[in-house]
Amino acid sequence: MLNFATDIAREAGNLLVQRLGVAKVTTKGDINLVTEADIAAENLIMERIRSYYPQHGILAEESGEAVLVGGKRSDWKWIIDPLDGTTNYAHGYPCFCVSIALEHKGELEIGVVYDPMRDEMFAAERGCGATLNDRRIRVSSVEQLNSAMVCTGFPYNVRERADFARDFAKFTMAAQAVRRDGSAALDLAYVACGRFDGFWEDGLSPWDIAAGALLISEARGTITNFKLERLDIYNEQVLASNGLIHDAMLEVLTS
Ligand code: IPD
Ligand code: CA
Ligand code: CA
Repeated sequence: MLNFATDIAREAGNLLVQRLGVAKVTTKGDINLVTEADIAAENLIMERIRSYYPQHGILAEESGEAVLVGGKRSDWKWIIDPLDGTTNYAHGYPCFCVSIALEHKGELEIGVVYDPMRDEMFAAERGCGATLNDRRIRVSSVEQLNSAMVCTGFPYNVRERADFARDFAKFTMAAQAVRRDGSAALDLAYVACGRFDGFWEDGLSPWDIAAGALLISEARGTITNFKLERLDIYNEQVLASNGLIHDAMLEVLTS
């Protein structure tokens, strides 16, 4: 199933690249965009899943949840963001990805994040570690927040919530560097492979988090909510790190 997931992520990613700069963009909210490419990539992924795994449920950003198969709830759920980083994509800023995860009885089994611009495939299977283009990855070994490069994101209600800018300012004073790249799934993949030492965001959806969360735990990182509780991908809050700077990040968030 991991091979199946990487194949469809690659196929969908190539579709995104083909339509970069030409896909029509519409708005879902004030600053929340959707492109023809989001929809086309999602349809492609859903068609493949439906033909290979017709008994499985699907939760996809643009189509919503379809967990009932033949009137029954499936134990398997594919969680899909066909294009994470839509605003970047719409502006031709080459930082976006396809994110696909598979949950079984509420447990993440497979997570794949594919960046088609760099041809980087991040993949994880529960208990088997995480890889980038088939090479094993691990989180960084940076011990101090002062030496760490951390990343965050702003959800689409950013204009109604002053805490995002406040936390960004606090991390700017405490970390070596702060980034806001605009693709939460890719940000989490970057923590998993040690490019970022930590990531935080409040207001995320399960399709932003699911694949990246498995990458982090399989790369021996730490991922929780802002209260140090076990991550719940349906509960919006993510604090992810190499484990070593987790407490220091939490302290910044709660100070
Ligand atoms: C968004 C991106 C962004 C994050 C937002 C997400 P989308 O997803 O992951 O980095 O800050 O909260 O909604 O809309 O590009 O799929
Ligand atoms: Ca997303
Ligand atoms: Ca999306």
